Amino acid sequence: RKNIWKLSTGSKNLDEILGGGLESQSITEFAGMFGSGKTQIAHQACVNLQCPDKIIADDSIKEEVLNEPKAVYIDTEGTFRPERIIQMAEALGLDGQDVLKNIFVARAYNSDMQMLYAENVENLIREGHNVKLVIIDSLTSTFRTEYVGRGKLAERQQKLGRHMAMLNKLADLYNCVVIVTNQVAARPDALFGPSEQAIGGHIVGHAATFRIFLRKAKGDKRVAKLYDSPHLPDAEAMFRITEKGIHD
Ligand code: GTP
Ligand code: MG
Repeated sequence: RKNIWKLSTGSKNLDEILGGGLESQSITEFAGMFGSGKTQIAHQACVNLQCPDKIIADDSIKEEVLNEPKAVYIDTEGTFRPERIIQMAEALGLDGQDVLKNIFVARAYNSDMQMLYAENVENLIREGHNVKLVIIDSLTSTFRTEYVGRGKLAERQQKLGRHMAMLNKLADLYNCVVIVTNQVAARPDALFGPSEQAIGGHIVGHAATFRIFLRKAKGDKRVAKLYDSPHLPDAEAMFRITEKGIHD
């Protein structure tokens, strides 16, 4: 795979276990319980895309990425917060409104809308927008509410598989970073590993190159665990979520 570039998460520790940052031409899944930081990481990625220091690439690719890069944020839970983007932007010395202007936010109320918005990214690119980051926050919430019970499982997995294939196509064809989030239910017993807990299980697992499981630690600390990566060892990293955003 040629021309790969990486986008910093804001945390050096987290970047390190990812092999340098969020990788283009791949899907990175962030799974974890409520409040573990999935949406915060997604917001920070949108901000970091506007920050040359946070783009890790060879000069020619960096030029391509930094040519008015746009993020597409497909929001299925209504949790996108412009004020938070502004706050994170200002912490990096960027103009908050400028950063916001470079994020296309699409509120998806069901899985059909969600998939349609993902397909529409290609149209934005054809119109001349340099979309370099695509976020689905959350990947699974609409599917979870629409496809309930055993009888719907096959259909749900098939549709989720099509959605992931579309996202992989976008990532590959347009050299984008793709982030998907996946909420995991709280389970007091640790009987199941992350891949069993996160819905979409094997479908998402095979389609996502990088899978990160987030958990809360003390105070503003979070632990990220990379698992099941074809190229990288399982590893853990500690980061924090503060007023400034995501950092070590
Ligand atoms: P679900 O979508 O419910 O599954 O959770 P999530 O994993 O998306 O969690 P999210 O990223 O929304 O993290 C929420 C946590 O981030 C909060 O509990 C806070 O700890 C932290 N956080 C969010 N916004 C702010 C902020 O403006 N300032 C600070 N200091 N922390 C924040
Ligand atoms: Mg969230």
